[in-house]
Amino acid sequence: MTFVSVVGARPQFVKLAPICQAFAELENGIGGVIEHKIIHTGQHYDDAMSRVFFDELEIPSPDINLDVGSGGHGAQTGEMLARLETQFIADKPDVVIVYGDTNTTLAACLAAAKLHLPVAHIEAGLRSFNRAMPEEINRVATDHCSDRLYAPTPAGVRNLDNENLAERTVFSGDVMRDTVIRNLAIAERRQQKSAQDSEEAYALLTLHRPSNTEPELLAALLPSLDAIAQKTVPLLFPVHPRIKATVSDISSRLSPAIRLIEPLPYLEMLCTVKQASFVLTDSGGLQKEAAFLETQCITLRDETEWTETVDIGVNRLTGINTAAIDKAITVAMQQRFDANTFKALDECFGNGQAAKLIVQDMISHFSQQ
Ligand code: UD1
Repeated sequence: MTFVSVVGARPQFVKLAPICQAFAELENGIGGVIEHKIIHTGQHYDDAMSRVFFDELEIPSPDINLDVGSGGHGAQTGEMLARLETQFIADKPDVVIVYGDTNTTLAACLAAAKLHLPVAHIEAGLRSFNRAMPEEINRVATDHCSDRLYAPTPAGVRNLDNENLAERTVFSGDVMRDTVIRNLAIAERRQQKSAQDSEEAYALLTLHRPSNTEPELLAALLPSLDAIAQKTVPLLFPVHPRIKATVSDISSRLSPAIRLIEPLPYLEMLCTVKQASFVLTDSGGLQKEAAFLETQCITLRDETEWTETVDIGVNRLTGINTAAIDKAITVAMQQRFDANTFKALDECFGNGQAAKLIVQDMISHFSQQ
């Protein structure tokens, strides 16, 4: 049986890593009857956004790289769709595995579904209920065109049930938690060896949502965050390539309390999040990674698909309202993770065995088709 994973963007490499490991462990046990291949669409192509994740997380090199690159949503998704269709017709995989909610996810799912190839969607069922987010469209379309839906959280299961997709749904836990658990000790050992370790307190800032990164918006937001940083702790800000030029234009108006740096590799990011006083972000994945690493998060959006992190009390939604952000930071800095927090996180996101469950379920489910 041949499974093919299709990935293309940074967060997908983090989700792919434990799936590769689960396949490898299984293949060792059953003597190579199962094959797992990787197609990289090339949505992310900078070394810092792609290659470093394959290296650090020991993901096998992609079997195929489609080199699609950047473009408008339609052009990028369409280009991937066309190239993936050609590839699937040539390779005839038994199952196509897609991850998360990017344009790569949607293109791979559509290409496979149109060829009547079974599709498994990892990280299914998430909803922000905000259709202005390109990811929300990708999620809804992918879930409805997929055959097996692996929901990482109880909220994901409920959302799929509400859309009459319960029969295809499996509650799997979150593969990103698997990756954090597997790599934290490695990251910490590596950091101890490096001399750059500093005792100074800081918080981490990431921004990349189109809704937060329009130039005029950033020009207002960054100086406000700078003012907050000056009275709390410095903000470490790894700048996403898409907003590099805009941030660089604004940077002369910022104080040294905002520290602009290149995107961080995964292992360094784990240590950076763990040691941060708090995280300010509009990312989806980072909201959870902060929780898994016992760091409080403030989400610069009005809604989240990771509602459990808010319910558990480790994440708060502020949008980009400076007064709300200020208040949330004060609250976050006083809050601690305790036994109840850890128990709730385990119940909602699983305890690091999601990939194993998914791979075993895929094999037993799709071999009966
Ligand atoms: C994409 C995903 C988003 C995910 C994010 C993680 C979609 C719709 N969005 O957003 O869900 O959270 O990845 O980062 O799929 N660029 C580079 N080098 C790269 C990649 C991108 O310079 O290696 C620049 C290009 O200018 C490109 C822009 O970033 O046009 C946007 O990249 P793209 O992949 O289209 O979207 P992201 O904003 O990264």
